Amino acid sequence: MKKAIVLGASSGIGNALAKILADNNYYVGITGRNQNNLNALKETNPDHFLISNFDCTISNNKDKLNELVQTLDGLDLLVFSTGIGELNEALDAKIENETNHLNVLAFTEVVCWTTNYFLTKKRGI
Ligand SMILES: NC(=O)c1ccc[n+]([C@@H]2O[C@H](COP(=O)([O-])OP(=O)(O)OC[C@H]3O[C@@H](n4cnc5c(N)ncnc54)[C@H](OP(=O)(O)O)[C@@H]3O)[C@@H](O)[C@H]2O)c1
Repeated sequence: MKKAIVLGASSGIGNALAKILADNNYYVGITGRNQNNLNALKETNPDHFLISNFDCTISNNKDKLNELVQTLDGLDLLVFSTGIGELNEALDAKIENETNHLNVLAFTEVVCWTTNYFLTKKRGI
């Protein structure tokens, strides 16, 4: 069985993609902060989902990813569908910094870690 991780599987595009992957016989690690939504997704196809509930902006996000890959016993595909975006008419820098923390910094950390993993294994996308 192929292995995938969908970051941001608790709603939206990531949730829909995770279902499609499971329907296509992937074993899918699903992440997000909303445990209830992740549980509901797992219930749709229990043998095909593994939940890891964590905030992508935490400093040890790579450790969480590594744990998930070890538990899945490999990784063929990673989908980064975690992201936020808010209208910011007041031009409050705090809002932009929070967005950058997830959409830029965490994205970069996750993609670098995962690409290095795939290069080591000589496979994966
Ligand atoms: N929908 C569109 O038409 C569209 C178009 C262009 C681009 N996009 C981008 O595509 C991505 C997904 O969009 P979507 O519509 O599927 O959005 P969504 O329904 O809001 O889903 C976002 C996902 O990111 C997770 N998330 C948010 N903050 C997180 C954090 N700090 N740590 C871990 N997970 C976090 C959410 O889970 P939790 O809340 O459970 O953590 C959720 O699973 C976003 O970056 C969005 O900007 C969407």
